[in-house]
Amino acid sequence: MEEFNIPLDFSRPELFDFEGIPMVHYFTDNWKNIQNFQARPDDILIATYPKAGTTWVSYILDLLYFGNTAPERQTTLPIYLRVPFIEATFPGLPSGVDLADKLPTTPRLIKTHLPFQLVPKSFWEQNCRVVYVARNAKDNAVSYFHFDRMNMGEPEPGDWNTFLQNFMDGKRGFGPWYDHVCGYWEKKQTYSNIHYMFFEDMVEDTGREVERLCSFLGLSTPIEERERITKGTHFDTMKLNKMTNYSTVPVMDFKVSPFMRKGKVGDWKNHFTVAQNEQFDEHYKQKMKNTTLQFRTEL
Ligand code: A3P
Repeated sequence: MEEFNIPLDFSRPELFDFEGIPMVHYFTDNWKNIQNFQARPDDILIATYPKAGTTWVSYILDLLYFGNTAPERQTTLPIYLRVPFIEATFPGLPSGVDLADKLPTTPRLIKTHLPFQLVPKSFWEQNCRVVYVARNAKDNAVSYFHFDRMNMGEPEPGDWNTFLQNFMDGKRGFGPWYDHVCGYWEKKQTYSNIHYMFFEDMVEDTGREVERLCSFLGLSTPIEERERITKGTHFDTMKLNKMTNYSTVPVMDFKVSPFMRKGKVGDWKNHFTVAQNEQFDEHYKQKMKNTTLQFRTEL
């Protein structure tokens, strides 16, 4: 298994404006190769705003396609090597583009957090299937806050109040949550090969969501297999699985917060004050007034 080799001078990156989106350099250093990436028609792009359930859906897709055919994959290859993060260029690890280019599998499963307008053009040109997962803004913000606290590859989050204000202002990596989720939602109107999923639906009924995924992907996975996958990708199981819990990534400090943190809908209630919630709701109404996209913040 390949390991991260962090340079001694590794420090938290700063956000900077990149084509109108706040980004850190780890996701833009390889930009030419990212933009020129040659997708194949059977590639599957897993697109999300950070912390919306990317790893969960990546693991589900990996098991759907390769769970039976390559058992050693499950015990030796961490999820971030099975499903390359196309825009990533972290020191000590091959770039996402290199990993994707060298993937021996068909289909190739590829992850991105890029807003739709920055996704390499060839994915759209090849009419690739895109699986988009969205999560309600409040839980997404809470999860992102804890992730930024524990991950040295992320910019400093500040305290919760500062973070929340920045989240609302779109000043976090990959830009405003609002534009991200609405961007793919609108894209779906003209590009039918997007399967738009919700984290809340996955928590509510994972089996149903796996079935819907199979139908989008044109897979006739038998029910027993789907049930096995549903069980195998349960939060508690993934949290214990070294290949899916990110414990092999040394820039993450699990003493601050684990990657597999809570996996719940509604944890925002443990973080938002009444005043923050009122301000957030008011701002949310404005930002989301022109979309038909609806989220659930509790089940
Ligand atoms: P929390 O921080 O709220 O716990 P991503 O993979 O996009 O980075 O998203 C990470 C979030 O998804 C974390 O949310 C993590 O716990 C949650 N998650 C990952 N796998 C999950 C699963 N099997 N069931 C529920 N939540 C899961």
